Amino acid sequence: MISRLAKRLRLWLARHRLAFPGSPAVGRIWLGSRLQFDELATVDATNEPRLAPYQRLAPFYDDYAGHWCLRYDNYLLYLASARNVPQARVLDLSCGTGGLVGRLAQRCERVVGLDTNPYMLALARSAAGAYENTSIVAGDIRQFALGERFDAIVCASDSLNYVASDDELARVMQGIAHHLESGGLFVCDVLGRAFSSVVNGHYLHYESPAVRFALAFEFDPETGRDSTRVLFPDGVEHHERMAINDHQLTEAARSANLQLIASFGSMGRRYFAFTRT
Ligand SMILES: C[S@@+](CC[C@H](N)C(=O)[O-])C[C@H]1O[C@@H](n2cnc3c(N)ncnc32)[C@H](O)[C@@H]1O
Repeated sequence: MISRLAKRLRLWLARHRLAFPGSPAVGRIWLGSRLQFDELATVDATNEPRLAPYQRLAPFYDDYAGHWCLRYDNYLLYLASARNVPQARVLDLSCGTGGLVGRLAQRCERVVGLDTNPYMLALARSAAGAYENTSIVAGDIRQFALGERFDAIVCASDSLNYVASDDELARVMQGIAHHLESGGLFVCDVLGRAFSSVVNGHYLHYESPAVRFALAFEFDPETGRDSTRVLFPDGVEHHERMAINDHQLTEAARSANLQLIASFGSMGRRYFAFTRT
């Protein structure tokens, strides 16, 4: 049953000219029920020293995330052409290291990337610096006011999961609707409770010639909150997030007058496209 669904998803993606991964990945990644990197055992046990989110992860993020990143530049252009709407100005919310900003800059008139994290912003500024038609802005997706509207907005790679509540999610959606042209597109992906439940108590190991680190997952089904610790030999990053199911996302979008036009994905990661009515 699951392999039939996976096959149908692959066919759908191929038909719509989408592809995984978004960038070539050089490292290996695997999930285990116990920590397999001995050099991380002390940090795992003591939870010390504490690092800020993305303080160590940022430079390795693209390679690590390239394992599952969707080609949103292709997807947005496909959607825009299918719906006959422009794709000149695009906003990348929670733009991370700016990889997507760079790819979009080659195909759009203007691209703005927004993120709150100083380590990610530094990399995004350096990546986007190669393109004159981009701006990288420090800001919070829960309250942003850029003073301009966009043809499309993207919030990629489960960035929305960083909200702390349904209210915050609704606020993000309102900000998005406020910055979208009428008929404009919003695309995103989220991780739901199915993903959080499967990885709960497990370690995701990442190994490349440059680095070894591991993510330790903890999920509280009562609160729907995820605590992920990213373990490096010299410290641990804490990432606090919320699992978001289809219903939560579409309700928040509906409250901001964003209409669902497509959804797809696995039981874990779910992709959505909305338009502003
Ligand atoms: C998993 S990364 C995804 C980065 C990028 N979208 C990508 O696809 O590679 C999550 C990003 O969300 C950002 N983020 C988390 N909370 C945020 C907030 N409240 N406002 C803006 N960005 C936020 C983080 O700094 C990080 O860059």
